[in-house]
Amino acid sequence: MSSDNILNYNTVDFDEEECALLIIDQTKLPNITEILHLTKAKDIWDAIYELKVRGAPAIGVAAAYGIYVLAERIEADDFDSFYAEFKKQKEYLDSSRPTAVNLSWALNRMDSCVQANKDLSIAEIKQKLKAEAKAIHAEDTRVCKSIGEHGITLIKQGFGVLTHCNAGQLATSKYGTATAPIYLAHEKGYNLRVFADETRPLLQGARLTSYELYAAGVDVTLICDNMASSVMKKGWVDAVFVGCDRVAANGDVANKIGTSGVAILAKRYGIPFYVCAPTSTIDLNTPTGDDIKIEERPADEVKKKWYEKPMAPEGVKVYNPAFDVTDNDLVTAIITENGIARAPYSESLKKMVR
Ligand code: MRU
Repeated sequence: MSSDNILNYNTVDFDEEECALLIIDQTKLPNITEILHLTKAKDIWDAIYELKVRGAPAIGVAAAYGIYVLAERIEADDFDSFYAEFKKQKEYLDSSRPTAVNLSWALNRMDSCVQANKDLSIAEIKQKLKAEAKAIHAEDTRVCKSIGEHGITLIKQGFGVLTHCNAGQLATSKYGTATAPIYLAHEKGYNLRVFADETRPLLQGARLTSYELYAAGVDVTLICDNMASSVMKKGWVDAVFVGCDRVAANGDVANKIGTSGVAILAKRYGIPFYVCAPTSTIDLNTPTGDDIKIEERPADEVKKKWYEKPMAPEGVKVYNPAFDVTDNDLVTAIITENGIARAPYSESLKKMVR
C-alpha cells in the first residue's frame, strides 16, 4: 500500500485542536483527495446533502461529530437554553437527507446523551458529547469488522461477487459493510472476482467502490449497471453483497437506486442476494418498505453532472430517486454484526437488534 492509498485515510474523523469534523470530499474522488475541516452548521449540512460524505454509517458518524462540533460552540449559561439550541441544530442536520436511518439514529443518540447528563454543567455535557461521538465512530469500525466475519461464512474460494453503489470503507469508518467480507476474504487469499456496478447517476460504484477495491489489490471489474444481467447469465457471479440505508421491520430494504433490479436479476439466475446491515440501519419503527421516505434529487445529476455538456434537452423531465426498496422475498439473508438474519425477517431482525 502506498502512503497515499485511499484506504489509509479516515472517511470521517475529528480534529481536537480545531474542534472540527473532518471528511474526505468524496465528490472529488478518485482524482483528488481533499480533506475538509467543517465547523459550521451550513457547511456540515451541505457536505451531507451534496454527498461529500455519504453512505449510511459514515453519515451517522459525521452527524455525531457534526452535532458535537456545533454543541461545543453553543454559548449558554443554563441547560434549557443550551438544549433549545442543541435541538435546533440537531433538527437542521437531520433534515439533510431522509432515507439513511443512521443520520437520525446517531443524532438521537447524541440527544439522549445530553438528556442523560442534564444535571452536569454545560462544559461537562460537552465533554460527554465528544466521548459519545467518538464511541459511535469506534463502534462503527467494530461493527463492520463483525459483519465481515459473519459475511465470509457465505463466501467460497474463487467466488464471483457483484456489488452495487459503495458500501465500502468510504461509506463507513473502516472495512465497509458489503465490502467487509470481501476485504477479509481477500486477506485470506480467497481469490475473489468482484464486479462493481458503476451506479448511475452519481457513480459511487465507479468512483468509489472500484477505486477502493483496486487500491486494496482486489480483482475488481467495473461494469455499467445495465451489464449486470449479462455477467450473471455468463455464470460469473456466485453471490451479490450490497449495503443498505434502512431496513424495515419486515425485512424490506432501502438501498441505492438500482439495487432492487439487481435483486430481481439475482433471483432469475439463482444467485444469493445478501444485504449487509449494521443494526443501526435496522429500523423496527418502520413497518414495511412502503413506509420508507425515498429521497429525490436534482435533475442535473442525471442530465449534466458528469458530462462536459448537458446530455439531455434543457427542459426534459427527469425522475431521480436516490434509493429504491428491495422486497424482503428477494433477500436471501441480512448480515448484521450480531449474526445472519433470514426470513421470516419480522422475527429474525428483532433478535439481531439487541
Ligand atoms: O447516496 P449514497 O451514496 O449515500 O448511497 C449509499 C448507499 O446506498 C449505500 O449502499 C448504503 O448507504 C450503505 S453504506 C454501508
